[in-house]
Amino acid sequence: MRLGFISLLLFACQAPQKQQDDFTQQTPAEQGASLFSMHCAQCHGEDGKLGASGAKDLSKSRLTDAQITTILKNGKGAMPSMKALLESDENINLVLSHVKGLRQ
Ligand code: HEC
Repeated sequence: MRLGFISLLLFACQAPQKQQDDFTQQTPAEQGASLFSMHCAQCHGEDGKLGASGAKDLSKSRLTDAQITTILKNGKGAMPSMKALLESDENINLVLSHVKGLRQ
């Protein structure tokens, strides 16, 4: 019983570290896709078309890089600022490339 509890604790502590390692081993395109799945897909959908909470269809969006960056940093309407979640300008640029790749 006690052993089970300890291994559960160990697992809980190791999991985020492993995720971090996986992330740094990904290509930039994969990192952009991971960030999008983690922070954006719940509203926009993996393909950008979900539209939950009034989210805009990213496959149809034609905003400039600067406009997208501003929305990611400041939020817009029902979309909260993503600055803290994305952590760095580098991550913002990775997710920005992914978003543009969803265009049709
Ligand atoms: C809580 C839901 C939610 C999350 C999470 C979210 N968005 Fe949004 N997003 C919205 C909503 C709602 C809008 C429409 C804002 C408006 O115009 O009023 C929007 C608009 C946008 C737009 C502007 C599209 C256009 O053409 O006007 C972009 C680009 C965008 N989101 C990208 C992202 C990215 C990238 C992420 C993840 C880092 C993300 N969003 C996370 C809800 C969300």
